[in-house]
Amino acid sequence: MEQFNLTGSHKDRESEAIIRYALAKGVRSLAIASTGNAAISLAAYCLMHQLECHVFISAGVSRDRLLQIKAFRPVIHTVEGDYKDAIETCNVEAEKNGFLNCNPGARFEKIVGDSEIGKEIASELRPNSVVCPSNNGTLIYGVWLGLKEAGLQPRMIAAVAPKTNFAEGIAGTLLLEGSKLQECIGLSGGASVTVEDGEIRNAARLLMKDGFIVEGAAAAGIAALSHLDIKHETVCCVITGSGLKFPNSLRNILA
Ligand SMILES: Cc1ncc(COP(=O)(O)O)c(C=O)c1O
Repeated sequence: MEQFNLTGSHKDRESEAIIRYALAKGVRSLAIASTGNAAISLAAYCLMHQLECHVFISAGVSRDRLLQIKAFRPVIHTVEGDYKDAIETCNVEAEKNGFLNCNPGARFEKIVGDSEIGKEIASELRPNSVVCPSNNGTLIYGVWLGLKEAGLQPRMIAAVAPKTNFAEGIAGTLLLEGSKLQECIGLSGGASVTVEDGEIRNAARLLMKDGFIVEGAAAAGIAALSHLDIKHETVCCVITGSGLKFPNSLRNILA
């Protein structure tokens, strides 16, 4: 239930670990390319610790997202193009200006942060399968490492939705930690499950009835369950983010 973290997503695990590293190394300026949870989270943590945060966003970012990023007062750099272009510009600018590059694939601390989720799961459950909504693969790999560290080896299931309109957090297929994603799925005997928007909508409504308003990406994990051959098993789905952060997206999902 990562929606209960500081800024309402699992990205706070990653930001916490990055900030610990930055403070230990005396780093003052951090940079990330993101149009959502990762930027909101890193900007909030930087504000708390009086660090400078540079956020690279693609030009078409929604108002909901931009307002939340701006709330935590980072330096915003608008990049023409899509998320991939924002990542590339961020990588170049980070290198040039000596910012700590916090993009997926650039910082192992993000994985270390997500491994805490795996350890927490292991402290309460012995799941046969663990489902993670996945895009770059940072989250699922980190959760897997944490579970392994705690002595558990469940099947790791990546819920993906490359063509979604509802689950912005996992849309597209950039796979910046793609080899790690494949590694944990392969070695754990898991699978990658593609879910459609209709299934994401149903899952979001089901979760709401159970008392949780989640964002589309988070609902994708629950949507993946109907694709799995599960009988009398313990399955843990990582709910990655709150739906209340993005009212316009929520409105579309609940239409
Ligand atoms: C809510 C949410 N769930 C899941 C993911 C997927 O995480 P990863 O890119 O580490 O696979 C993201 C990524 O931004 C996200 O915002």
